[in-house]
Amino acid sequence: MKTSNRANFSKLGVILATAGSAVGLGNVWRFPYMTGHNGGAAFILLYIGCVLILGIPGMVAEFVVGRHGASNAFRSYASLSRSKGWGAVGVLGVITAMIILGFYAVVAGWCLQYLFASFSGSVLGDPDYVADYFKTFSTHPVKPALWALAFIAVTHVVVTRGVKGGVERASNLLMPTLLVLLVGIVVASCLLPGAGKGIEFLFKPDFSAITSSTILEALGQAFFSLSLGTACLCTYASYFDRKTDLMKSATQVALIDCVIAILAGLMIFPAAAAVGVNPDSGSSLVFITLPNVFQQAFSGIPMLGNVVALMFYALLSMAALTSTISLHEIATVFFHEELHLSRRAAATIVSAICGVFAVVCALSVGAVPGLRLFGLSAMDFGDTLTSQYLLPIGSFFTCLFVGWVVPKGVVFDELTNGGTVSLRIYRLWLFAVRVVCPIAILLIFGHQLQLF
Ligand code: TRP
Repeated sequence: MKTSNRANFSKLGVILATAGSAVGLGNVWRFPYMTGHNGGAAFILLYIGCVLILGIPGMVAEFVVGRHGASNAFRSYASLSRSKGWGAVGVLGVITAMIILGFYAVVAGWCLQYLFASFSGSVLGDPDYVADYFKTFSTHPVKPALWALAFIAVTHVVVTRGVKGGVERASNLLMPTLLVLLVGIVVASCLLPGAGKGIEFLFKPDFSAITSSTILEALGQAFFSLSLGTACLCTYASYFDRKTDLMKSATQVALIDCVIAILAGLMIFPAAAAVGVNPDSGSSLVFITLPNVFQQAFSGIPMLGNVVALMFYALLSMAALTSTISLHEIATVFFHEELHLSRRAAATIVSAICGVFAVVCALSVGAVPGLRLFGLSAMDFGDTLTSQYLLPIGSFFTCLFVGWVVPKGVVFDELTNGGTVSLRIYRLWLFAVRVVCPIAILLIFGHQLQLF
C-alpha cells in the first residue's frame, strides 16, 4: 500500500545509500573497540560468521518487507499480514533507531571536535598528550554535548530535504574516497616500528578467549554494522525499484561493510601496538590511537600528518552522517506517514527526542558520572541495550515474519523478481530465514542468560 509518492533510488544509489547506512562509526570506531575488548582474531572470525550466516539473510528479509510494503516500517509490516500486531516490529525498530541515534551522535560529535582541532593540529602529539586530550575533551561538561547536537542538526537538515536529494548524493563520492584513504593509513600504520604484534593480534586466533558474551557481542556488532534489526533497511528498501536484485545487493553491501571494518582493524591495532595503547581501551581506542599514527607515520613531510588527519576526520564524519541520516529517516517517515505530520514537523520531533538523549549520553561519559543505568553509563547502556538485545530481537521477529507469516508467493516474487534468481539460492535463503536465524539467535540469547 502506498501512502505517499515515494522517490526511487537509482541502480547505483541502491548500493551506495544502503552501504552508506551500513558503513560508519560501526566499522571504524565500534569494530576495533569490540575486537580489542574480545581478544582479537577469534572475535573477528565469529563476527564474519554472523555476517554471512545471519546478517545477509536477515538483510534480505528486511528488504522483502520494505520493498513490498513500500511504506514506513510500521505500515510495511502491518500490511503484509492479516494481523496488524506485526506492525509492532516496525515500531520497535523506530524506537531502537532513535536510541542508537542518541549515543551515535555523541561519537560522531567527537569526530567533529577532532576534525576542527585538526585544523590547528592540536590533537597531534606524543601518546600521553593524545590520551589526555581525549580524556579532557570527552569529560568536558559542554563541548561534547554541543558537538552531538550539531551533528543531529546537520542530519536534520539533510533529512528534511528529502531522501533523493540528500541521502543519495551524500553517499556518492564518499565511499570510494574513504576506501582509498583507509588503505593509505593502513600501510602507514603497518610500517610503524613494533606494528607486528598488532597484526598478529588481528590474525592469530586464540579460541580459548571465547565466552558466551563474546558470541553475543560478535552478533551485536554484525547487526549494528549492517544496520540490521531496526527496519532501517526495510525503510530504505521501500525506495528500491522492482528490478533491484535483493540478494545481490545485500551481499555487496555486506562485503563492502566487512572490508571497511577489517581495514579499520588493520589501521588501529598495528598502530596501537607500536605506540603502546592497550587494545582493550574501550570506546576511546580509535581516538587515542589514530592521532599517534598521523603524528609519527607522516612526520617525514611537514604538515602531512595534519592534512591526513583532517581528511580522515572529514571522511569519517561524512560516513557517520550517511548512517545518522538512515537512523533519522526511519523515525521521520514513520511520524510523517502515521501521525500525518509534515515531513519537517516529523523530523523536528525526532531531532528533539534524540537530541535530549544525546546530551544525557554525552554527559554520562564523564561530566556527570552519576548518569548510570544497571552499572553502565547512559552511553554504554544505550549501546549495549540496542546492539546486543534490541537489534537481534528485531531481526529474530523479522525472520519469523518473512519466513512463516508473509504469504509465500509474495516472498518468492520479491526475492526472485518474478523468477529471475535461481531457485537454489531462494531455497537456501528461505531455510536460513525460517530456521537457522531464529534458532541461532535464541541459542545465543539462551547461552548468555545461562539457560544451558
Ligand atoms: N551501521 C551503521 C554503522 O555501522 C550504524 C547504523 C545506521 C545502524 N543505521 C542503523 C545500526 C540501523 C543499527 C541499525 O555505523
